[in-house]
Amino acid sequence: MKRILILPGDGIGPEIVAEAVKVLETLRREFGLAVETEQGVIGGAACDATGEPFPEETRRLAGAADAVLLGAVGGPKWESLPRELRPERGLLAIRSALSLFANLRPAILYPQLADASTLRPEVVAGLDILIVRELTGGIYFGEPRGIRTLENGERQGYNTLVYSESEIRRIGRVAFETAMQRGRRVTSVDKANVLECTELWREVMESLAAEYPEVELSHMYVDNAAMQLLRAPRQFDVLVTTNLFGDILSDAAAMLTGSIGMLPSASLDQHGKGMYEPIHGSAPDIAGQGIANPLATILSLAMLLRYSLGEAELAGRVERAVERVIAQGLRTADIHSEGCRRVGTAEMGDAVVAALMEQER
Ligand code: IPM
Ligand code: MG
Repeated sequence: MKRILILPGDGIGPEIVAEAVKVLETLRREFGLAVETEQGVIGGAACDATGEPFPEETRRLAGAADAVLLGAVGGPKWESLPRELRPERGLLAIRSALSLFANLRPAILYPQLADASTLRPEVVAGLDILIVRELTGGIYFGEPRGIRTLENGERQGYNTLVYSESEIRRIGRVAFETAMQRGRRVTSVDKANVLECTELWREVMESLAAEYPEVELSHMYVDNAAMQLLRAPRQFDVLVTTNLFGDILSDAAAMLTGSIGMLPSASLDQHGKGMYEPIHGSAPDIAGQGIANPLATILSLAMLLRYSLGEAELAGRVERAVERVIAQGLRTADIHSEGCRRVGTAEMGDAVVAALMEQER
């Protein structure tokens, strides 16, 4: 039996994860999904409970699980802790411990939410792009790193951008493979005009392209990619890029869709094991109020079903249930607009469960 580790985390994490768990329970009870679930702690919650953001017990549970569903980590309460104890470190540590090198961040615009975007509807209508971000290498993990004091007494901060050919090739392969299932276009984003590391990146992507003659590969400098994402985002199908560039571009891409509260993500290892989380953060300002949008977490569960459990059919059902509640006009505060019905976190989760139950088996 497949095992799912649930890590609610901090802030709104527990509230939104609870709604995804409702959906998961419905799939178990009504749709024959055979899974076991366990709960663990990570981030600030783990610091409070154990003194560490990624405790040994969580590492063990995560290692034994087939997939991890995560809420969000972080909050002002833990910001003054030493760097290695901060919640974000827990997130980076679990990515690294599980070798989750491939981060898939789709940005899809639901037609009914076109008004929520800050861009004109005609610019974003029909948007469907996938950012493939390298997640366990690059400047996030490169050594040496730190803050040192120079001989003249001045302090100096330094980090290292480093990618080996094999690291570039394996993330490139994910991009090409997923492009084959979609629009067959890959844009590799780099800064090859300045950074040697990404000159190599470009070279390796180019050599991979020979293995995928059906996929059209293009290259773009990251500054231009940021501009093009805002100017004409529909030109993209799959974007593949480094850890840091992917971090930045995926926030920009998320905002094209109007609400970061709608977007799921998957972080996968070589064998399809993965961690799934909404791309938004822990939103401490609204934590505990029952108003957060649980849809990104529910859609993350759909990705989990598809990529780690091989349950594409059930994944589709969950996605259709989410589309249905949007079409019904239900909106949490972050995506609310005139004429729609404002609902809270739990009511939104219940509506998705109801939409799931309405579907024909
Ligand atoms: C993300 C986040 C994380 C990152 C932070 C919280 C460490 O911004 O998942 O995009 O930078 O990767
Ligand atoms: Mg980020």
